[in-house]
Amino acid sequence: MSQILHVTINGEQKEISIEPDELLLDVLRRVGYKGVKRGCKEGACGTCTIILNGYAVKSCIMLAAQAENGEITTIEGIGTRDNPHPIQQAFVDEGVVQCGFCIPGMILSAKNLLDKNPNPTEEEISFALDGNLCRCTGYSGQIKAVKAAAEAIRGEK
Ligand code: FES
Ligand code: FES
Repeated sequence: MSQILHVTINGEQKEISIEPDELLLDVLRRVGYKGVKRGCKEGACGTCTIILNGYAVKSCIMLAAQAENGEITTIEGIGTRDNPHPIQQAFVDEGVVQCGFCIPGMILSAKNLLDKNPNPTEEEISFALDGNLCRCTGYSGQIKAVKAAAEAIRGEK
């Protein structure tokens, strides 16, 4: 039987009809947040990463019902084409976006890190991005990009 999920997504309060066995990933995509990418659907690739209640989580391995009364940030809430978030800008500047499929999840993992730790070491960045796989590029550019974004956010660039 359907139920209503009460949730805040990118600052907007929503009431969404869900099935008890629906995954959060599938619900978010169904209601239009297509930036939440469907990859492995088994918690391994990180393309479905969102921020839920201050933690980067993989939305393919949790039920939508578990997000009741939660606060979600998806890539749609991070920046726009005309006004990108500093992390998005840094990824573009470092040239680490190829097919782009992994990027929303990676940006959200990076944002979650920088929200808590504005001056991370390379090791800390690497650890934060550990659950986000990229088939196109190596990871050194992305680590550089997150470092550059952190400097920009701290006003050092
Ligand atoms: S789709 Fe969720 S981790 Fe791969
Ligand atoms: S840019 Fe293609 S998977 Fe990362």
